[in-house]
Amino acid sequence: MVRTLGLTQLTMIGIGAIIGAGIFSLAAAVARDVAGPAVLISFLVAGAASLCAAFAYAEFAGMVPKAGSSYTYCAAVLGEIVGWIVGWDLLLEYTAIVAVVAIGMSGYLGFLLDAVGIHLPTWALGAPGTGPGHRIDLLAIVICLGVAWLLTRGTRTSARVETVLTIVKIAIVLLVIVVGFTKVDAGNLTPFAPFGLGGAFTGAATVFFAVFGYDALSTAAEESVEARRKLPKAMMLSLAISMVLYVLACIVLTGIQHYTELNPSSGISSAFASVGLSGLANVIAIGAVIGIVTVTFSFMMGASRLWYALSRDGLMPAWFGAIHPKRRVPHRATWVIGVVSAVLAGVLPINAVAELTNIGVLLAFMIVSAAVLVLRYRKPDLKRGFRCPGMPVVPVLGMVFSLWLMSFLTWETWVRLGCWLLAGLALYAFYGYRRTRQVMPGGSVDLDTLDDMTDSDEPEPRPAHAPVP
Ligand code: ALA
Repeated sequence: MVRTLGLTQLTMIGIGAIIGAGIFSLAAAVARDVAGPAVLISFLVAGAASLCAAFAYAEFAGMVPKAGSSYTYCAAVLGEIVGWIVGWDLLLEYTAIVAVVAIGMSGYLGFLLDAVGIHLPTWALGAPGTGPGHRIDLLAIVICLGVAWLLTRGTRTSARVETVLTIVKIAIVLLVIVVGFTKVDAGNLTPFAPFGLGGAFTGAATVFFAVFGYDALSTAAEESVEARRKLPKAMMLSLAISMVLYVLACIVLTGIQHYTELNPSSGISSAFASVGLSGLANVIAIGAVIGIVTVTFSFMMGASRLWYALSRDGLMPAWFGAIHPKRRVPHRATWVIGVVSAVLAGVLPINAVAELTNIGVLLAFMIVSAAVLVLRYRKPDLKRGFRCPGMPVVPVLGMVFSLWLMSFLTWETWVRLGCWLLAGLALYAFYGYRRTRQVMPGGSVDLDTLDDMTDSDEPEPRPAHAPVP
């Protein structure tokens, strides 16, 4: 594999994974239901929490620049069972992300179909409870299964294609901001916080979905020049750029249409259509679909690679992680993820799946922050491409912030996470614990493994298409 990705391209890949359904779909839903124009505050709070975790992630990415390595890393630092919990948690999270972005895309696709006179039957327009007569989100199901099919065929977007798609996405957001500002009616922005500050904080726990994704950047490590130094920088840069765009886009969204009238399924396009800019609304919808599809690809691929790694290390049955002999992809894992995300996307409203994702990500952020902290004291001399500033305050702040945001999530979300973790622990007790000891004689990964990983200056190259743990 040729190392061609520099800082600019890495940053573009980061932005490609960060900007997606969060701004295009969740912003409108949160503004309408819990935050009003103060959704802007929700984004800022979520961004600050994510920034603390990003510092920790960046230190870790600069140490072990390998795809999907948070599980290996946490296993080495905090023990195999914690590593397994992170891996199992991320598996749910990545699958739920695919479902959220598919629901987001479905809203904009539906908007475009309507624009060309194709109207889906009411029952197929969304999950139960999202509108009168809604039974299932048909387009979201088709998207999840379609992406799974493409990935099992060995389809892999190259960094160049991803960069082009990300440029299109940024251009669309900029278009929204520049044209949108000319249509802002200050009257729509008052009252600014109709649900109080509490509403804005509750909203932060949902729009948190919009401010992560840079963790997926580590999948590009094998193709990057000086990954150890450039990956952490690209993570911070992509988050910073996305935040600036988000804040401006939120002002436009709630400034051109009153928050009570926002359409949660095709928020930005519907807002532009409401001020007579229907043509532009269609362009935005096309851009949203193109922009969101990159997120679907990167997370479904991330989930299948993670599954492959867990199977390889004996924590999950090898059958799931098997690589297709010709296409070199973990086809079974990909199909399982495709089907599970299709079911989630088909029957649950976007907010519920986004919350499920967020609780998983926040838990992973807490564990990664803890691992970075512990490792600083246990292995102070390990080679680090980036050092998290403000030790130990920043990672501790990251953990506290994450826990605080988790406290705003509904009890149903907590119960879903609890059930998932219990199932994971049972699987570990009855299967993984013994199997890892057979697969990895001498026990699981430990701190010496990290020494080996950080010894070489760059990660080992991998063959094209081969999944990477
Ligand atoms: N941050 C990504 C999005 O908003 C997952 O779609």
